Amino acid sequence: MAERGAGLMSSAPLILAVETSCDETAAAVVQGRVVLSNVIASQAEMHAPYGGVVPEVAARHHIGTVNGVVDAALTDAGVSLGDIERVAVTQRPGLIGALLVGVATAKALAYARRLPLAMVDHLHGHILATWLEPLALDPPFVSLIASGGHTRLDLVNDPTSPQLLGQTLDDAAGEAIDKGARTLGLEYPGGPALDRLARGGDATAFEFPIGLQGRGGYDFSFAGVKTALLYKLRELGQPAGPVRADLAASYQEAIMRPLADRLIGAALEHHVSAVTIGGGVAANSRLRVLVHEAASCNGLRVAMPDFSLCTDNAAMIGAAAQFTAPIPYPEYIGMDAIATTPPGGIAA
Ligand code: KG4
Ligand code: ZN
Repeated sequence: MAERGAGLMSSAPLILAVETSCDETAAAVVQGRVVLSNVIASQAEMHAPYGGVVPEVAARHHIGTVNGVVDAALTDAGVSLGDIERVAVTQRPGLIGALLVGVATAKALAYARRLPLAMVDHLHGHILATWLEPLALDPPFVSLIASGGHTRLDLVNDPTSPQLLGQTLDDAAGEAIDKGARTLGLEYPGGPALDRLARGGDATAFEFPIGLQGRGGYDFSFAGVKTALLYKLRELGQPAGPVRADLAASYQEAIMRPLADRLIGAALEHHVSAVTIGGGVAANSRLRVLVHEAASCNGLRVAMPDFSLCTDNAAMIGAAAQFTAPIPYPEYIGMDAIATTPPGGIAA
């Protein structure tokens, strides 16, 4: 965390940000690019017995956790609620019950202090995680966001309005990873477990189909590779030892390679010299290697946030809040959470 003094010298507003769109209860204090605190309480263990996030369980758990997480973010930053100049919250997209907890909390905090409130799009937050220190990347760049719920490429010329270049036509990359990991008998959440198992395997041992290969554009498809793994396991039975690691590595490769290839392809086609990755899947060690290798071959700069800024967090919401028009007190009081990003896009 940064020193409080360094942050408060800036003329940017001191922002308290709240994020509860899925299964992390998160709050952060951000000023300009400086992250003064970034507190994340994960519910992953609570959902593990069900093999996925249970929306009702997530919402109830946020209710019990959010006040403590906000207090911890203020304490870690060395500030009090009275110092905060703006509140920010994830308004969309996400699990509606989960989002409602954050939105109600943020509205109450802002209203009580007569502060403006920024209603932020979660994906806008992921895209601007690299705008924060220590990376402090300014546009233009091409952003890849790959998480359990989303997979998309955006061209970012202006931080207020990323332009969608392509997205998944079916499953999100993280969803394909988690389902594949479950098929291989790995524990939930499957991403880190599959990543570990794949490190000991040969990614060329099995051939898995790469969705939309040879087709132009920047969309993705991961439904086919998932089904292919299921058929492969029916053929082989549940393998052990090196064969299981080879399967994990080959399956992972068929998901990570198109992500890296299209990210780099988009940067080259749009003559942009920097690329970023975000979302939980950006923690994948193979994706990081593929992106680094392809970027350095093509003379591109890569900005990859630390794990705490890759997965769901509130610091990134504080970043996007600085490029989202704040709603003055008390106009936000009747505003609601929204389950999906509006057709007009992130900044709509
Ligand atoms: O962004 P995130 O924390 O939450 C949302 O879905 O919004 O992303 C979670 C996803 C899960 O699918 C998880 O399995 C995946 O990120 N993930 C990984 C790794 N760590 C987390 N996938 C591949 N490799 C990893 N090391
Ligand atoms: Zn996310």
